[in-house]
Amino acid sequence: MADNNKKEVEESARSARRLYWEKSWDDDEFSPIWRGRGIATQVVDSLESGWFPSTGSVLDIGCGEGVIAQWFAKLGYQSVGIDISQSVIDKARSEHAEESTKDLLEFHAVDITESSPPDKQYNILIDRGCLHSIPPVLIKNYVKNISAVSAKGARLLLFVRAFRDGASFNNEMEAKKHVQVTQKVFAGQFQLKRYAATNIGSSTDKSKEKQLPGMIFYLEKL
Ligand SMILES: C[S@@+](CC[C@H](N)C(=O)[O-])C[C@H]1O[C@@H](n2cnc3c(N)ncnc32)[C@H](O)[C@@H]1O
Repeated sequence: MADNNKKEVEESARSARRLYWEKSWDDDEFSPIWRGRGIATQVVDSLESGWFPSTGSVLDIGCGEGVIAQWFAKLGYQSVGIDISQSVIDKARSEHAEESTKDLLEFHAVDITESSPPDKQYNILIDRGCLHSIPPVLIKNYVKNISAVSAKGARLLLFVRAFRDGASFNNEMEAKKHVQVTQKVFAGQFQLKRYAATNIGSSTDKSKEKQLPGMIFYLEKL
C-alpha cells in the first residue's frame, strides 16, 4: 500500500473508533455488561504473589472510568489512566478527585494508537478490553507507543475477549490462536510468560449475565 493511502486508512480507522467511544461514553444509557466490573482478581493476585513489583508506576490503558488506576494510586503507586474518550476521562477525574491520591493519580485523554502516554517508564501496565477493540491496522502503533514508555522488565496484564459466538469456554483451538496472535503482536518488545482462560466480566457479581469469557496474558518487557 502506498504511504499516503496507508496513512488515510489508519486515520479513518482511528477517527471511527474515537467517534464510537466518545458517543458511547457520552450516552447516559451506555451500560455494557463489563461496565462496573470492579478490580479483576488477577490484578489483586499479581500484586499478592509478587508478580507485580511492590512500588513503581502504573499505566491503565483504555482505563474507562478509572477504577483500576485509582486502586493502584490508593496503594501508593504513581498511577496514570489513559483513554481515547475525553468524556470518560472527565468522568474519571471527577469521580476520583480525592485528596489522598491527589499527587499519585492522573488521567489523560490519549489515543494509544496515535501517541504515547506521559512517559514514566511504567513498571506495571494493565489493558482490560482496550487492545481487543483496536482495529488490526492500528495494532502495531499500539505496541510501539506502550513499548516506548515501559521500563525493562515491566509487567503487562492483558485481558482479551475469547470463546464467544458459540465457541466453548477454553476451546483449545481458539486459545491457541489467541496465544499465537499475542506472541506475534508483541514480538521483540514483550515476552509472553503465561496465559489462562478466564472470566473478564464482573469480579463481584457472579451471576451468569455478568460473566464474559476471555483470556488473560502475562507479559514482560524485554
Ligand atoms: C471495554 S472498555 C474497558 C474499560 C476499562 N478498562 C474496564 O476494564 O472497565 C475499553 C476502553 O478502551 C478505550 N479505548 C478504545 N480504544 C482506545 C485507544 N485507541 N486509546 C485509548 N483508549 C482506547 C475505550 O474508550 C474504553 O474505555
